[in-house]
Amino acid sequence: VTHQSPIVVIDSGLGGLTVARAIRSVLPNERIVYFGDTARLPYGSKSAVTVTTFVKQIIGYLRSHCPKHIVIACNTATALALPSLRAEFPDLSISGVIDPGARAAAEAAGEKLRPVIGVIATEATIRSKAYERALRRRRNHAHILLRSTPLLVPIIEEGRDMNDTVVRLAVAQYLQPLVERKIDVLLLGCTHYPLLKGLFVEMLGMAVHVIDSAQTCAEDVRRRLSAAGLLHRGDVSDRSFQCYVTDDSPKFSELASKFLGFEVDPPTWVKPEELYNQHSAALLRQAI
Ligand code: DGL
Repeated sequence: VTHQSPIVVIDSGLGGLTVARAIRSVLPNERIVYFGDTARLPYGSKSAVTVTTFVKQIIGYLRSHCPKHIVIACNTATALALPSLRAEFPDLSISGVIDPGARAAAEAAGEKLRPVIGVIATEATIRSKAYERALRRRRNHAHILLRSTPLLVPIIEEGRDMNDTVVRLAVAQYLQPLVERKIDVLLLGCTHYPLLKGLFVEMLGMAVHVIDSAQTCAEDVRRRLSAAGLLHRGDVSDRSFQCYVTDDSPKFSELASKFLGFEVDPPTWVKPEELYNQHSAALLRQAI
């Protein structure tokens, strides 16, 4: 691993691009390798065992890039799998998005003694209670309201935006109980949701802070790389953005480029069986 090695960003689909975009703006010279497990999405309705296996396979596949850091840019995978990923790959530096998200929400809650913090996320993230724990550590007296919003990942992956009628209806229904409880902060506990941030802000009004983990997560990556002496020392001409997906979706590069604000080369298609083979080969190597 050298300062020129890439930062790997992993998600089930497009959502982790919100984190990749923040990393690009905080660390503009870095090489980024992005992996979207589009064939097996959504992760949010699957079990911990399944999601952990998927992400282990992906890391096993990408480790030939010698990443200097891996960001699990998916709340579901962070909530369900982070400790076992660190245990499986002790030589790799791996971080997630839950702690940075909770830190950002706790800061946004300000001085209020008993702020009301709403968290929306996938079913698996909500069930794991990972956000509840991470928020309690920082704001023990906060009133925390958790709500799963399972329709949002599929409709965002479809490329529907905030002006779409179905999107507006789903978001309005999901937010209703949180609005009634007068939340001070809405934490977007899924990396897909910032793609609709404008809609959340519009529906909640300026009095509610709408927070996601992307910026704090990118700053966390910078701090880790700086502590390890691995910040890229070249200039922007070295940077690159390489994408891998498990389903050859024609929409991916179009949506990715639109969202990131720069042209993304067509992604490399990794068939899921290549991931299985890679993972079984690694297990076999460990066993002998
Ligand atoms: N972006 C993932 C997250 O942050 C979405 C999970 C999914 O595929 O359901 O949880």
